Amino acid sequence: MTTSQAFTSAFHEHDPRWNAVDEYAFGHSHPSTRPNTEALRHALENSQAAGLPDISASAAQAKYMALLIRAQGITHALEVGTLGAYTAIWLASENPGLHLTTVEFNSEHVKVARANIEHAGLTDRIELIEGAGIDVLPRLLEEVQAGKRPKLGFTFIDADKPNNWNYFDLAVQMSAPQAWVVVDNVVRQGKIVDLENLDPRFYGAREAIEKAGKDPRVDSVVIQTVGEKNYDGALWAVVR
Ligand code: DHB
Ligand code: MG
Repeated sequence: MTTSQAFTSAFHEHDPRWNAVDEYAFGHSHPSTRPNTEALRHALENSQAAGLPDISASAAQAKYMALLIRAQGITHALEVGTLGAYTAIWLASENPGLHLTTVEFNSEHVKVARANIEHAGLTDRIELIEGAGIDVLPRLLEEVQAGKRPKLGFTFIDADKPNNWNYFDLAVQMSAPQAWVVVDNVVRQGKIVDLENLDPRFYGAREAIEKAGKDPRVDSVVIQTVGEKNYDGALWAVVR
């Protein structure tokens, strides 16, 4: 059996306990009486109704990032890949002092995201920029360097995977010391260690992991996760 065949047979696993535990634990740690429940539910339902892919971060992952932002008192964050703004609404609604800039390439996604942000009452603190990350981030960097935009305390990279490293490098340049730079989906059910798989998304994950590990500007770690969004993981880096 080749490595690819061995991986393929394992990829269809989805342990029902992962969903059950997420449902149980999240239900207790974030009961539906919380003030942001309705806005988040609306964002998911509206995104689904508009035909957006069901690939946003899990509730648990999004809340975890929101709590990191809160614990560090971060006031400026960047997201690359807004999708329907589900994660953006999590980050901003859990952090009343946060200004979030979020970048989305797909104009249909932008329309849905704008409506969801408006419904959540967060238009004043979520700045949604339509465009390709690879065009928009260099402009943002120029503004940061010109002192027209504050440095970032947190970046969530969750967009076109082949550009992971480009976004990471630009985010680090825009970051304050001790800022987080997070890259989503770098585990992909373990497929990233199947070196025979030439899918550019997996290459983009490996490139981010390998280059971040060599980069003297950051310290990084990959955490594998299971849950309602299957088996995946993110790269977590802190700027020196
Ligand atoms: C995909 C993208 C994501 O950002 C994610 O969290 C899960 C899946 C995808 O493109 O398949
Ligand atoms: Mg993702």
